[in-house]
Amino acid sequence: MKLILLGAPGAGKGTQAEVICDKLGIPAVSTGNILRAAIKNETEMGLKAKSFIDSGALVPDSVIISIIKERLAEEDCQKGFILDGVPRTLAQAEALEEMGVEIDCAVDIEVSDEVIMQRLSGRRVCSACGASYHTLYKPSQQPEVCDRCGGKLIIRKDDEPATIQERLKTYHQLTEPLIEFYRQRGKLLEVDGQGEVADITAKVMAGLEAVSK
Ligand code: AP5
Repeated sequence: MKLILLGAPGAGKGTQAEVICDKLGIPAVSTGNILRAAIKNETEMGLKAKSFIDSGALVPDSVIISIIKERLAEEDCQKGFILDGVPRTLAQAEALEEMGVEIDCAVDIEVSDEVIMQRLSGRRVCSACGASYHTLYKPSQQPEVCDRCGGKLIIRKDDEPATIQERLKTYHQLTEPLIEFYRQRGKLLEVDGQGEVADITAKVMAGLEAVSK
């Protein structure tokens, strides 16, 4: 299966990718995680990407396309993958097609902007391993401590309210048109992303089963 998870920032792409990749036995490829690791390691790409991410803007297409080309060529992606947070522009979607990547399904996880604000303002992430929590919906056992590795939980810099607004604006302008792009190709699966995490996973899995028949 070659899947794309579409959806606004905070729609739950990362949360769903983590569960679905286990169920399908394929890796999740998150450009956001790859970029954050590059920033942490202070690589040239990370230094280039940091100011874009911190301000809620998109990283230039050329950077993303070269990341994705490199990652999809790796051995673990040969049987399939879940793309989390990419493509995010028409240029990125077209680049995937030019690379010969044939997508089975683009799952659009639909969540209102109001719910996005609640989700992102309550999100906490582990500064050591990147695990994601929510103060209300997925709290850690001990406040500010990661259940998985004991690392300190922090607020992502781009989860400040003004930056969330900027990311939502960017999403509506540049990423939302991809819904139509994949609909026209007969690849779109629309899923209501509001409700319990497990219920949303069940809806995605049922939709994928229908697609693969
Ligand atoms: P990225 O890391 O991809 O951020 P994003 O798309 O903004 O997505 P998020 O990680 O914020 O949200 P999510 O949808 O994964 O939600 P999550 O599951 O965490 O990208 C960051 C930046 O990198 C971009 O702004 C851009 O600058 C750059 N970038 C990355 N890819 C790029 C690309 N292709 N092109 C250009 N630039 C790129 O959930 C959010 C919270 O809600 C969590 O706390 C979670 O616990 C909670 N939650 C999830 N589901 C539920 C539920 N059903 N009910 C209640 N709470 C829930």
